[in-house]
Amino acid sequence: MSDCNTRIIAPSVLASDWGQVGAEVKRADEAGADWIHLDVMDGHFVENISFGPQFVSAVRPHTELTLDVHLMITHPNKYLEEFVKAGSDRITVHVESDHDVSATLASIGEAGCGRGLALNPATPFEEVLPFLDQIDLLLVMTVVPGFGGQSFMEEETMPKVAAASAYRDEHGLEYHIEVDGGIDAETVHIAGKHGSNVMVAGTALYGKDDMAGAIQQMRE
Ligand code: DX5
Ligand code: ZN
Repeated sequence: MSDCNTRIIAPSVLASDWGQVGAEVKRADEAGADWIHLDVMDGHFVENISFGPQFVSAVRPHTELTLDVHLMITHPNKYLEEFVKAGSDRITVHVESDHDVSATLASIGEAGCGRGLALNPATPFEEVLPFLDQIDLLLVMTVVPGFGGQSFMEEETMPKVAAASAYRDEHGLEYHIEVDGGIDAETVHIAGKHGSNVMVAGTALYGKDDMAGAIQQMRE
């Protein structure tokens, strides 16, 4: 497992040009991205519909970077096998979804993937407490999930990042702390200061002609 203090930049393909997704993934890879973030939305757990496992399979041959798959779906347990087969390296499920969270996390781990757990801005940190010793990554959503291009919700979410970081130190645990939504050259530093190390960004990276420069700025 990589060091939970190393900053990881993960461009979200949601903001890319899907008509040429292979080239878009290569563009992120060549610009210095660490992981590729894939947002799966079912139109039920969230308002929006994005893509499913076939899309993850389509992306897989275009990069050797870690595919960080974020499932915003109601029944994540039902589709795990398909997302594993599609070539996911890490799979993140929501604590608010309708499933046995411990069992789903265990299945992700048994499949050889990194186990991620996400919580929405309105969900208190206490909801994920029982699972923190069963994960490799905690995703603190910094917008209400569903759409790219929204504003970073600092007040609602940064206390949870700080709490997750303190809890990890106190209990000798090793999960990454990821933030997702409204991350740009400024907010990335706010999230980093509170203890998050994995930075997902769609608009602020895919929206730039100079993605390498934008990634570099997020590292500084
Ligand atoms: C939000 C998604 C995000 C989204 C981030 O529902 O989970 O990953 O792509 O997009 P930006 O960076 O544009 O806020
Ligand atoms: Zn996401």
